[in-house]
Amino acid sequence: MENRSRLFDSLVVGGQPLRNRIVLPPLTRSRATVDGVPTRLMEEYYGQRAGAGLVISEGAVITPQASAYARVPGLYSAEQVTAWRPVVEAAKRDGAVVYAQLWHVGRQSHSSVQPDGLLPKGPSAVPITGYQYRSPTGRIPYETPRELTTPEIAEIIKAYGTAARNAVRAGFDGVELHAANGYLIDQFLNDGSNHRTDHYGGSLENRTRFLHEVISEVARHLPSERIGVRLSPSSDWMDVHDSDKRTLYSTVVRQLNDLGLAYLHLVEPEIAGSTTVDSPADSIPTAELAALFDGVVIVTGGHDQASGEQLLTDGTADLVGFGRLFIANPDLPHRFRTRAPLEPVRPAGVYGGGPEGYTDYPALAASGT
Ligand SMILES: Cc1cc2nc3c(=O)[nH]c(=O)nc-3n(C[C@H](O)[C@H](O)[C@H](O)COP(=O)(O)O)c2cc1C
Repeated sequence: MENRSRLFDSLVVGGQPLRNRIVLPPLTRSRATVDGVPTRLMEEYYGQRAGAGLVISEGAVITPQASAYARVPGLYSAEQVTAWRPVVEAAKRDGAVVYAQLWHVGRQSHSSVQPDGLLPKGPSAVPITGYQYRSPTGRIPYETPRELTTPEIAEIIKAYGTAARNAVRAGFDGVELHAANGYLIDQFLNDGSNHRTDHYGGSLENRTRFLHEVISEVARHLPSERIGVRLSPSSDWMDVHDSDKRTLYSTVVRQLNDLGLAYLHLVEPEIAGSTTVDSPADSIPTAELAALFDGVVIVTGGHDQASGEQLLTDGTADLVGFGRLFIANPDLPHRFRTRAPLEPVRPAGVYGGGPEGYTDYPALAASGT
């Protein structure tokens, strides 16, 4: 009995059965074209990882302005939609349910990559301090963003809707809103980055308004049960901080209960973007926030098979994401099932490049799990 692995139990999410509780979480790998068009290489990569019950795409930017880095895919042009189709099909090859992560980086962008060469925009003219922008020629300071005007906010909300519609057209089963890791939605939520005095700033009701308006707009294009939301409640990565994180995030989670979403995706406190760090002092235990949510909860961050099983056993999570393990072990579910050894991630090729460090991690067995 003890041998039975809960990671291989099925679960229905958004009306669709998942064959296991293993999630490929969003992982930016920068293998799209310079115009953000998905490539054949991406098709191969996602096909290799199709054994997950739920595949969430790497962040896909909703407009050219929403991006911070080269070769990140988008979901705003017809060409991108067409090119996503075979990628999504490959990810569905073994029966996975496949969601697109919708991404806008807000103040984490830089004028050097903005289409018009102007400053990036965020909720307020508050720059990121303590971190540096990774430019092709090295690390440089973040700029002071321009404060979004109300009409610009409305345009961005519309763009989320268009991107969601494009995701459906490309074959995705649903979308995940990236409200984590200090990107635009997170910048609106936290009072350290949101100093607005209009109805998008100040009170909790106002700071959560942008998230809710985005969800409402996206829900015009697909059922709410096909929309997930990703939060990183404890992270202060990229200088997101709030005077009362616990109240902020428990309010956000409680509000989401009323919306009938596909899932809530929580990033563990010890994750800073894509790396493991010491948890911030004001961390909120993931179990505490998960318990406030009535629907499906995904937990990602630093987990292996044993700790993933534990999250399912103690009821903290319904699904578990394995990011870096999936980068280096494309057949991760098969390896979990057979208790096979796991490969470590090689630093070369994590972001950008060709097949090396991307599609050249071997599978143990061609059949997967
Ligand atoms: C190379 C890399 C790229 C990532 N890209 C994204 C992304 O596009 N969107 C996102 O929400 N998180 C992204 N993350 C964070 C992962 O989804 C995950 O939260 C993190 O890796 C911790 O999980 P792990 O310990 O299982 O790797 C990225 C992480 C890595 C390592």
